[in-house]
Amino acid sequence: MNAPLDKAPVGKPIIQTYDMLSKGQREAMKRIARHDEATVPQIEVTRPVSIFLSQERFDAEQDAIFKKRAIPLTISALLPEPGMAMGHESTGLPLIVSRDRDGKVHVFLNACQHKGAKLLETCEPVKSGRMTCPYHAWTFGVDGKLIGVARAETFINLDKSKRNLAELPSREQGGIIWVMLDRNAEPDFSSLVPELGEDLDALELGTAHVYGRKSFDVKANWKLVLEPFLEGYHVQRLHASTVGPLYADVPNVVDKLGPTIRQISGKVNFTPEDLDIPGENIHKTVTTVYNLFPNGVIITSPWYISIMILHPRGPDRTIVDYHNLTRVAPDNPKAENLYKTSYDMVLDVFGNEDFRAAEISHAGLATGALESVVYSGLEASIPAYYGILESYLPE
Ligand code: FES
Ligand SMILES: [Fe+2]
Repeated sequence: MNAPLDKAPVGKPIIQTYDMLSKGQREAMKRIARHDEATVPQIEVTRPVSIFLSQERFDAEQDAIFKKRAIPLTISALLPEPGMAMGHESTGLPLIVSRDRDGKVHVFLNACQHKGAKLLETCEPVKSGRMTCPYHAWTFGVDGKLIGVARAETFINLDKSKRNLAELPSREQGGIIWVMLDRNAEPDFSSLVPELGEDLDALELGTAHVYGRKSFDVKANWKLVLEPFLEGYHVQRLHASTVGPLYADVPNVVDKLGPTIRQISGKVNFTPEDLDIPGENIHKTVTTVYNLFPNGVIITSPWYISIMILHPRGPDRTIVDYHNLTRVAPDNPKAENLYKTSYDMVLDVFGNEDFRAAEISHAGLATGALESVVYSGLEASIPAYYGILESYLPE
């Protein structure tokens, strides 16, 4: 586990209330039915097993989506101040993510422009304003500009302005840093629709405290890792001895914000009147989940927000970068204990239940025992999501 960062936003309330949310979030919450009035749709949907197993399908997703469209890469809260930078390895492409002196985020290929050495060898955020190559000590600003060359007089006609770091197109929206992994592709940030930005801004992810983060190496196709976060069907079953009893076995209120799917659901004791209680922690009664298209997941919890970025590394391997964000840093033992207990619990539930389910599912599908998987009405957001995904793939 990476050490918690000690940047602590101060002066913020430690909880969020209904009236702090976006208009879209509030309206969706008003559409949550009483549990005894909820109707579960019946559906008849399958998908071929090959969408999880085949190298051809994996390559098609990479070519048409992961390299041709903006994807969520990491979170803004890891770089809270100008002059910060960190290495990023999870995509398989060595990257540097930085925030320049004007506050603008950049994503660079992590390769020195002298002879390609990795400039930053750590994925921990550092604040220094400049990056010095360990090999021959060329120095770059966090804006990517080459600013210093050792023994510069020994080069003839070295044009420093032509040796800046190679930059990938990136944007920051709603506390998420989005990137185009193929810098030669036409930049496509069309997934970052304003409604999504408004929602994520309301959650104040960009100014949250990073309580902890951990990367998981999951032996499963990335879509199998994603699926549990698109359905409630498994919650009372897979999580029966942990968080299952907290949730109701009913469908979510589902909306599309561009290609991102937002699911909102009332917890087991939810009644619509809860939304009108002044000062109530809204995340205690309502859970909101975003599947940031294509590979991000945001889940609200009473005391923290989970953000996961799934990085497909092969048809049967996914690196999951899990981040645990609290509104403020714990400043007393009671808060520290609460956050620590929550953090340990969520790592256990995701790591030992959801990711494990993805792994055993992948292993079973790989036996060839099934030709297709089948989805229930409580899993309807999965085929809805695949419909969006497939619309970007070649016929
Ligand atoms: S490779 Fe970086 S200074 Fe030589
Ligand atoms: Fe789950």
